[in-house]
Amino acid sequence: MLEKYDILLVADEVICGFGRLGEWFGSVHFGLEPDLMPIAKGLSSGYLPIGGVLVGDRVADTLIEEGGEFFHGFTYSGHPTCAAVAQRNLELMEAEGVVERVRDDLGPYLAERWQALAGHPLVGEARSLGLIGALELVDPATGERFDKALGAGNLCRDLCFASGLVMRSVGDTMIISPPLVITHAEIDELIDKARAALDATLARLADTTTDQHEETPA
Ligand SMILES: Cc1ncc(COP(=O)(O)O)c(C=O)c1O
Repeated sequence: MLEKYDILLVADEVICGFGRLGEWFGSVHFGLEPDLMPIAKGLSSGYLPIGGVLVGDRVADTLIEEGGEFFHGFTYSGHPTCAAVAQRNLELMEAEGVVERVRDDLGPYLAERWQALAGHPLVGEARSLGLIGALELVDPATGERFDKALGAGNLCRDLCFASGLVMRSVGDTMIISPPLVITHAEIDELIDKARAALDATLARLADTTTDQHEETPA
C-alpha cells in the first residue's frame, strides 16, 4: 500500500532499536522495511547522549541526486567521544551476544514471569515483547479503566519508585524497559516489586473510594 502510493515509512527505533525486542531492530521483528529510522538510547546503551537517523537508499539517492548539498550539521552532531562510546557499546553487545540473549533467554523468561501479573485484580492486560512490558490498570469492580482523576497509574508509579523499581506510567498503563543485561534473579525481583506495588495501589485506591463514599452526603 505504501509503495503503491509512494509513501515513505518512518520506523521510530529510539526504544525498539538495538536489541530491545530481541532483534537488532524492532523493524526486523515486525518484518518492516522502513525508509527512515530515528535511533538513540540503545545505540550507546544510554552511557553518553547520541542519536541519529538511518536513511535508506530511496531517500539518500534522492537527496544526493536532487537535493544539492545535504545540510544536517548541528553544533554537537557526530561528537567523537559519544560516537566512540556508541561504537564500543555495539562491539560489546555483538561480542557478548546481548541481542540473542534477549531473544532466546531473557525475553521469554520475562514474558513468562510478566504473565503471572495478569491474574492480579488491578491488571486488565499484561503484555511484553523482548525486554519491554506493559500492564493495563483497570478497576477490579468493573474491569473498565479508572476515572482519570484518580491518577491510578501515577500512584502505582510512585509506589514502584519508593520500592526501587523503575516502572513508569503512561496514563494508567504501567511500562517497563529494563537493562538488556538484567539477570533472571533481577527479573524475579522486578516481578515481586511490581506485585507488591500493585497490592499497595489496590489498597490505597480502596481507601480513596471508601473516603469518597464517606464524604458523600446520605
Ligand atoms: C520511541 C521514542 N521516540 C522518540 C523519543 C523522543 O526522543 P527525543 O527526546 O530525543 O526527542 C522518545 C523519548 O523517550 C521515545 O521513547
